[in-house]
Amino acid sequence: MSIALIVLAAGKGTRMQSDLPKVLHKIAHAPMLWHALRAGQTLEPDHCVVVAGHEAALVEASAKDYDPEIQVVLQSEQLGTGHAVSQAKEALAGFEGDAIVLYGDTPFIRQETLEAMAAARETHDVVVLGFEAADPGRYGRLLTDGDALQEIVEFKDATEAQRAITLCNSGVVAVKSEVLFDLLSAVSNDNAAGEYYLTDIVGIARARGLSATVVRCDESETLGVNSRAELATAETLLQQRKRQDLLEDGVAMQAPETVYLAWDTVIGRDTEIEPNVVFGPDVTVESGARIRAFSHLEGAHVSRGAVVGPYARLRPGAELAEDTRVGNFVEIKNATLGEGAKVNHLTYIGDAEIGERSNIGAGTVTCNYDGFFKHRTVIGSDAFIGSDTMLVAPVTIGDGAMTGSGSTITKDVPAGALALGRARQDNKLGFATKLFDMLRSKKAQKK
Ligand code: UD1
Ligand code: CA
Repeated sequence: MSIALIVLAAGKGTRMQSDLPKVLHKIAHAPMLWHALRAGQTLEPDHCVVVAGHEAALVEASAKDYDPEIQVVLQSEQLGTGHAVSQAKEALAGFEGDAIVLYGDTPFIRQETLEAMAAARETHDVVVLGFEAADPGRYGRLLTDGDALQEIVEFKDATEAQRAITLCNSGVVAVKSEVLFDLLSAVSNDNAAGEYYLTDIVGIARARGLSATVVRCDESETLGVNSRAELATAETLLQQRKRQDLLEDGVAMQAPETVYLAWDTVIGRDTEIEPNVVFGPDVTVESGARIRAFSHLEGAHVSRGAVVGPYARLRPGAELAEDTRVGNFVEIKNATLGEGAKVNHLTYIGDAEIGERSNIGAGTVTCNYDGFFKHRTVIGSDAFIGSDTMLVAPVTIGDGAMTGSGSTITKDVPAGALALGRARQDNKLGFATKLFDMLRSKKAQKK
């Protein structure tokens, strides 16, 4: 069955106290909206429509950034969830599959849950995702009769008896697209909030002889974010979930609670992540690597057998081949390290290419920036860069070449050459003794 996602993201999110629309606040480095989109993506939808309203241009840019194929429609006035979904009608004209409605501010829905809903749709006309709420508060209540769903009653409109029901509406629904818009055209705003409720489609469907049912999920999946405090809680929960997933996939972590992951962090089996490692977005670590304590990685790729850290920083474009070593207080940005290359101590490598098995000595700096432009440093294979070498880019060091410690290299070094770019040493015999004697007597006179 083909599927269309409709993601509601028009709300302002007043309680966030922010100029940014709510769905663009980030959890694990990705806007909340992207979490909802990704959950829906596993259903391989043919269409994805985001309903934007408050700060629609920003929401649209973010949605397109996630996937340029996403359609964004405008709900200029927020007249309720039913009204919001209706805005997708034109975008889905002629579409014959199922529509699944998600909320942009509900980032935790699991793929498995959406799959269960899509499956239930095969036997029921309307499928609603419900959950047993520990504290049902202001959620809409699901009125059921066995497996059948009869009606959804909003808190504001519910009787005391209905408010005692603990089975609540998550907001996620699955309905055949044509049927959804047909049902929505019968929804009125004659209720306590004066809004067009999406939830009314259930009662209308039943009155027309259509079937409706509930798929249940854990309450944690339906957690919505309405305030900064809830955003922080959501971050904590997502980190826990992500760590758990990695442990289940065979990643070793001695102190998982100290490891911070991004929404898209990929780590291979048998890789070890030591305590206090932070992952920014877009990091892939292959199997059998080791990321040692207190390292920070973003936009980086680490291959099998590589060891990074402790205290290493990999910035965007860091590409480490197999069995490389990046040690303490080393920063790598937009640079590739060939197989077996080593950069072990106190070094900056930026806009560079380092060949296989080359060794970069302590305190080396690729001087890549002249205040206006960035320049590249290219180092061949099996080269040896002496400690404290300044590589003033653009510069190329040939295969098997060597630079003397303390050199400032401004010219290309041919393969196999030794480059010395430093003042020649001059030993003045006895001078130190004389100097010390002079200073000692000066200090004695002062007393
Ligand atoms: C809604 C449900 C309620 C459910 C709850 C779960 C309705 C009428 N009620 O209530 O049964 O228990 O969610 O969290 O559907 N939005 C728009 N345009 C609008 C209105 C809302 O895009 O005109 C978006 C919001 O930005 C938000 C989502 O839809 O992402 C839900 O809207 P919200 O006002 O929070 O609904 P609730 O009152 O919480
Ligand atoms: Ca809400």
